[in-house]
Amino acid sequence: MNRTYEPKKAPSAQKNYLKTYEHSLKHNHDFWMETSKRLDWIKAPTKSLEGNYEQVNFKWFDDGVLNVSINCIDRHLPTKKNEVALIWAKDELGEYERITYQQLSENVGRCANMLKSLGVKKGDRVCLYLPMIPELVYSMLACARIGAVHSIVFAGFSAESLRGRIEDAKCNIVITANEGKRGGKLIPLKQITDDAIAGFDFVKNVIVVHRTDAKVNYQKKDVKYEELVVKQSAECKPESMKAEDPLFILYTSGSTGKPKGLLHTSAGYLLYASYTHELVFNYKPGQIYFCAADIGWVTGHSYIVYGPLSNAATSVIFESTPLYPAADRYWKIIDDLKVQIFYTAPTALRTLAAQGDEWLNTSKRSSLEVLGSVGEPINPEIWEWYYHKVGHEKCSLVDTWWQTETGGILISPIPGVTKMKPGSATLPLFGVEPIIVQAENGKIQTEIEAQGALCLKRSWPGQARTIYGDHERFIQTYFSQYKGFYFTGDGCNRDADGFYWITGRIDDVLNCSGHRLGTAEIEGAIVENKNVAEAAVVGYSHDIKGTGIYAYVVLQKGVKASDDIIKEIKASVQKGIGKFASPDIVHVTTGLPKTRSGKVMRRILRKIACSEFTGLGDISTLSEPNVVELLIEERKKIK
Ligand code: WT7
Repeated sequence: MNRTYEPKKAPSAQKNYLKTYEHSLKHNHDFWMETSKRLDWIKAPTKSLEGNYEQVNFKWFDDGVLNVSINCIDRHLPTKKNEVALIWAKDELGEYERITYQQLSENVGRCANMLKSLGVKKGDRVCLYLPMIPELVYSMLACARIGAVHSIVFAGFSAESLRGRIEDAKCNIVITANEGKRGGKLIPLKQITDDAIAGFDFVKNVIVVHRTDAKVNYQKKDVKYEELVVKQSAECKPESMKAEDPLFILYTSGSTGKPKGLLHTSAGYLLYASYTHELVFNYKPGQIYFCAADIGWVTGHSYIVYGPLSNAATSVIFESTPLYPAADRYWKIIDDLKVQIFYTAPTALRTLAAQGDEWLNTSKRSSLEVLGSVGEPINPEIWEWYYHKVGHEKCSLVDTWWQTETGGILISPIPGVTKMKPGSATLPLFGVEPIIVQAENGKIQTEIEAQGALCLKRSWPGQARTIYGDHERFIQTYFSQYKGFYFTGDGCNRDADGFYWITGRIDDVLNCSGHRLGTAEIEGAIVENKNVAEAAVVGYSHDIKGTGIYAYVVLQKGVKASDDIIKEIKASVQKGIGKFASPDIVHVTTGLPKTRSGKVMRRILRKIACSEFTGLGDISTLSEPNVVELLIEERKKIK
């Protein structure tokens, strides 16, 4: 299937895509200097990009000075103080709380002063381990206000994962909640935090927000958010920040076991989030915008908080899940709040479609204008479902490709401008120059129709500048395979129209339900189990999750395979990473296919996991070729 849909509605801001695109590359400095005017600067920059990919040292707007929180709050107050900044859709069905820009300003001011009263200074790192509650947004903007660097850890991560991240960034303060509430279930966030920071003297305080009435075990370091924040003034003078001062660290998985803390800086990141939020969603003042992601991932950073708030939008923060209490939850929110722009992940859409179309009958969704998708390739079938059934064929559908590292959307249709092809992220945004290189040798594919590894040829303002504390790893991971280019880790096809089709990761990273996980990270958590000798994790095609997690496990001598062992192995992953990383299939076996030098042949494991038993390639180099046959026989018995 290779259908196309013409753009909806009259073209918005950018009538002539090609002309603007060419200008944005040819006059890149002028283009970004012009775009930079959308922010409020304390001192406007005169420079755009400096540095390059050869040296892996690049900066944007370096002589500019601003404060991110001024851009997200203060500058809107003269005309919009009574407009709604956030609508908190609570876990409980039908419960909403609205926070105006004036209230946001006061809450952020108080929170910022609270952090200062605890000794937080410019450049200090603050860890936020919170559910989807307004205090999370206050804390982010409070950090930005005083120049502290936030490091948000998704509240689904385990104590061990949280611990690693707090240690890596040396956070002096952790803000958490007594409990989180999600899908009617309670999550003991404070307890997890206590476990995570045991023995960490450098953590000075834990600030506890009270989402529920539950009492928790309070320690000497603990501070109650509600008690301290009311003592503060609502006014906090914003810190003047240099454009390249850090704004936040966000950890993501790579091909080694240790997560990487991507560092994003102030001006370039904010500008890019702000600009793309308006462009890609065709955001217009007064619209209600609902991104259903969690703020713990980059999507929430850029497109729930920084992008929308810098544009004075009304942004919905959703605390629950798409299935709670039933499979029409998103649609009810859309009707209740008259949402015009809705942004979610294919995995959520597949989950909902699988529940049956009758769940679409309890809502009209007639306010919708733009539908967005992010996080993984969207299969054409679900694209069509989203477009026809959810959007009644009236909406632009934007399949947005980007990454934690890119800070914002790089490849996406523009509503009213780009034609849409189900399954394709379509064309690069302005100022973005993708190239496709031959994976084996890095040769740039100059033909329009091409396939290979997706790279970026030039920097854009939203790009992460480094891995916190490990610039060498930043260079190694992204700039060493193909000299002079940023390597994304994704495979990609380009069709005869020049449209991009992302095919998925070509490194050892899995994209499972839109959550990014390193196979090495999962293997590390599995072998923590004392019964396990060896583990190899690969992805396989999964109807709902896109990619499912398939773990091959070899047990220690003398340990018998059993259902209990499999449960234990899953529990090890939950403990080491979090529930969302738990393997879908655990395949207990006696040996892994290895080369004579001891390298596990993942290519073979991937095929067997996908039940592809032919075309396994040359297996003669294996040290024990008969393992393959055994694995195939075992695989046939696993559903
Ligand atoms: C990886 C980045 C971007 C925010 C959420 C994920 C995959 C992302 C798409 C898309 C195909 C996509 C890529 C990418 N991905 N969006 N529209 N089509 N694949 O951020 O956790 O950093 O993961 O997600 O594989 O490399 P992330």
